[in-house]
Amino acid sequence: MKITFYGQNSLTIQLENANIIVDPFITGNDKVKDKVDIKDLKADYILLTHAHQDHILDVEEIATNTGATIVSNYEIAMHYQAKGFTVHPMNHGGKWNFDFGMVKYVNAVHTSSFPDGSNGGQPGGFILQADGKTIYIAGDTALTWDMKLIPMQYALDLAILPIGDNFTMGIDDAIIASDFVDCNNILGVHYDTFGYIEIDHNEAQSKFKNAGKKLHLVEIGDSIVL
Ligand code: NI
Ligand code: MN
Repeated sequence: MKITFYGQNSLTIQLENANIIVDPFITGNDKVKDKVDIKDLKADYILLTHAHQDHILDVEEIATNTGATIVSNYEIAMHYQAKGFTVHPMNHGGKWNFDFGMVKYVNAVHTSSFPDGSNGGQPGGFILQADGKTIYIAGDTALTWDMKLIPMQYALDLAILPIGDNFTMGIDDAIIASDFVDCNNILGVHYDTFGYIEIDHNEAQSKFKNAGKKLHLVEIGDSIVL
């Protein structure tokens, strides 16, 4: 499983049998748009945690280019189905065995309106199990007690957690979240994209290290291989 970071919560996940894109926000991200041409991105599936602009901006173009199936909560799935895209609707607590592996849509504490204010359902995160690995994509969320449910069923190889604060968990809450999900291998996301969420990288690294955890802060286009 190869996970590549494209800023904010945008990720590609390369599996043995499928390519997945999570929350594509590339053409609107000044830190990414000149480094990545979305026409080059491969996708069989697009996972969307919620409907905010910084998670869905490039969905339609990528889905048009690739024919990918959009996987998200019911409201978001119906929004894209009405526009003619192929979708797979889910809702909180539900899981599905796809051809590449298992996806479960899990709780997040955040909001989820579309940029025009229309209803994007309730926000979520994903557990993804494929190629013998299990990861947690938290999406935009507060620290929430529900995270403790995850290690009751899943042993995580990686937790992808927002750390930028203001709109989501910050560094200190993400450290507690990594305890809640029982995973000491963390990919930090949702930071530095704009002023409200700029972080001090050294402070973040040292706080996670002092807590006995590994925080990955990767450059745009760099990958983690599990
Ligand atoms: Ni959001
Ligand atoms: Mn966001």
